[in-house]
Amino acid sequence: MDEVVSKRFGFDSDDSVDFTADGADSEWLVRSGSATEDAFQNILRPARFADYIGQERVRENLGIAISASTRRDEALDHILLYGPPGLGKTTLAAIIANERGVGFKATSGPVLEKPGDLAAVLSGLQPFDVLFIDEIHRLNRVVEEVLYPAMEDFHIDIIVGQGPAARSVKLNLPPFTLVGATTRTGLLTAPLRDRFGIVERMNFYTPDELTEVVVRSARLLDIRIEPTGAREIARRSRGTPRIANRLLKRARDFAEERADGVLSHEVAAAALSLLEIDALGLSRMDRELISVLIRKFQGGPVGLDTLGAAIHEDKVTIEDVYEPYLMELGFLVRTPRGRQATVLAWEHLGIAGPAPSASPGFADVGE
Ligand SMILES: Nc1ncnc2c1ncn2[C@@H]1O[C@H](COP(=O)(O)OP(=O)(O)O)[C@@H](O)[C@H]1O
Ligand SMILES: [Mg+2]
Repeated sequence: MDEVVSKRFGFDSDDSVDFTADGADSEWLVRSGSATEDAFQNILRPARFADYIGQERVRENLGIAISASTRRDEALDHILLYGPPGLGKTTLAAIIANERGVGFKATSGPVLEKPGDLAAVLSGLQPFDVLFIDEIHRLNRVVEEVLYPAMEDFHIDIIVGQGPAARSVKLNLPPFTLVGATTRTGLLTAPLRDRFGIVERMNFYTPDELTEVVVRSARLLDIRIEPTGAREIARRSRGTPRIANRLLKRARDFAEERADGVLSHEVAAAALSLLEIDALGLSRMDRELISVLIRKFQGGPVGLDTLGAAIHEDKVTIEDVYEPYLMELGFLVRTPRGRQATVLAWEHLGIAGPAPSASPGFADVGE
């Protein structure tokens, strides 16, 4: 069972990260990375609410729920955290366990292949423990059904024996708290979503909050940085702490190799330009997406499938990784007929906006 838990956690996945930020892999910015990359991010993970920057509303709601459940001496309600990658969901899950003073076990949807995998994890829990299931939308249906009674009444039904002799045995579990993380709640089945008592959406961070993240990380990593340097990295991190940490690390390399080791404003800006991160923090792939939308499809609307084929990127990555921040900037809107670039996006790429016919009513002015 421990194997199931550790097998994937912290070694999330398939993509070993290539830091050259070259070609089509500029999603290195957001995706969770290789083992070394994750080890690095782990060092920087705050362990308590006091060190967790931003997300005021989420922190306050969870803080209240944690104190209340502690006072009543009950397990904390099941919690669903959703939002784009890198905003601090995994970090928050561990903080919840720390603040509640209970054990923490972590696994992820794709790791739990069979009902037995989940049963093994569940039966190892201590009273009030937090079980974190990352990418919970990727649980397969059979496993998900084991989770329902576990969440609802703290029991599972396991099948013992085979053929006609097979029978179902009820196994009681200690009360526990499930914390699930997903990029979008819409990916969850309704019965699963309904079993969470607390659902919290994670927001992008403000430049001020990200500056705090960068300064804190620089302190932990012994990086010499000036306030204006921290600010520059923060401003160009797509509202995402994971990206801020990655850019800080890359900028430190640059400062040591090409400058005097101090991350001043100029050094930070030069390092980020070399990584093809623009003034708004957009990566090459972000720009490619809006550029194709505008140049090939006159700004849209264009369907997600068509757009994906045009930029050679899969739909899920576009929806989970690229679009949320482009929408946050007001560069892109999702319409019933597809994706559409806004005037702001045209301006950012320095292309003359859509034809005036797109804004009726102005042509007559002054006549
Ligand atoms: N609120 C925060 N304050 C400080 N650092 C944060 C915060 N949220 C996330 N981080 C940092 O960003 C990195 C990514 O966070 P993580 O919890 O893995 O994001 P997610 O699970 O949402 O993809 C972590 O290494 C952590 O150090
Ligand atoms: Mg995570």
